[in-house]
Amino acid sequence: MKVLGIETSCDETGVAVYDTDAGSLRAHALYSQVALHAEYGGVVPELASRDHVRKLLPLIRQTLQESGMEVGDIDGLAYTAGPGLVGALLVGAGVARSLAWALDRPAIAVHHMEGHLLAPLMEDDPEDPGRGPPQPPFVALLVSGGHTQLVAVEAVGRYRLLGETLDDAAGEAFDKTAKLMGLPYPGGPELAAQAERGRPGVFRFPRPMTNRPGLDFSFSGLKTQVLLAWRDSGKTDSDRADIARGFEDAVVDTLAIKCERALDEAGCDTLVVAGGVGANRRLRERLRKMAVDRGGRVSFPRPAFCTDNGAMIAFAGALRLQAGQYEDASVRVAPRWDM
Ligand code: KG4
Ligand code: ZN
Repeated sequence: MKVLGIETSCDETGVAVYDTDAGSLRAHALYSQVALHAEYGGVVPELASRDHVRKLLPLIRQTLQESGMEVGDIDGLAYTAGPGLVGALLVGAGVARSLAWALDRPAIAVHHMEGHLLAPLMEDDPEDPGRGPPQPPFVALLVSGGHTQLVAVEAVGRYRLLGETLDDAAGEAFDKTAKLMGLPYPGGPELAAQAERGRPGVFRFPRPMTNRPGLDFSFSGLKTQVLLAWRDSGKTDSDRADIARGFEDAVVDTLAIKCERALDEAGCDTLVVAGGVGANRRLRERLRKMAVDRGGRVSFPRPAFCTDNGAMIAFAGALRLQAGQYEDASVRVAPRWDM
């Protein structure tokens, strides 16, 4: 089965074809709207919807061409139906449903976070090759711009929430912290780049909620700590880099402590990490060391599939379509949607 996946929940237009017979991706393409939103310092929903309208069909054509396929070769469609920006979601849903109707093929709505969660199962971890993708049961750490969750994955489709953020998501904390130190949008990767140049231990920030039991997170206080440190510093380039390093170390430490606790509680040795913050180099290193030290394993998607992309939607949709799940032809999206 060749499944066309479409992702338009926020500011990336992603398209991919996953081939269930080959067990691999045939092609994937991504168009990022980052430059469009940069001057506003954040995503402008109406501009995002309009740009998805402009870019989606050309990207589908490009992906089919790279797959060596005609449109009629598509066996099924998968699209992100939420959570996300309603206008942006409707573009992907409308196109996917229309194609499904015109081609008389099944289509399936995919939960964006389930797409992220399953991404590490799509292919071998390039940093840990030869072992094959992990299989449930495992614990998943989902760290994106909108979510920070620890989930016990008993099987594909059987998820138990172990803990989540009570305020800001980890990615959101990266973005807001970057902004308050004058770094350009999108802040997360910029802040991580600054941290690469920063010295460890010059600034030390708290590891929120690690000194009491439980698996929830809270990152908004950390942002305030950084604000105070930045205000009282000389605001030089090296101050910015050192503060960025202190902030990154605090977030990475906090996530690692809670991941280890979640593995203990779930009685499990396999961790998978997904979502945009999963692209963070230091987080990857830290979690890999933690997993290896316990005699377990951790799997990440390649960095390009940590952030939003069409491949994870094609893959998650393919698993569901293969299991015989699909929906009627109505175009529905869910800007808020629990997994
Ligand atoms: O999964 P994603 O692309 O979109 C959402 O579903 O939210 O995640 C985007 C988030 C942003 O907050 C971004 O700042 C963060 O992931 N991010 C990073 C890095 N790359 C992306 N945060 C820390 N270090 C990175 N290298
Ligand atoms: Zn995402």
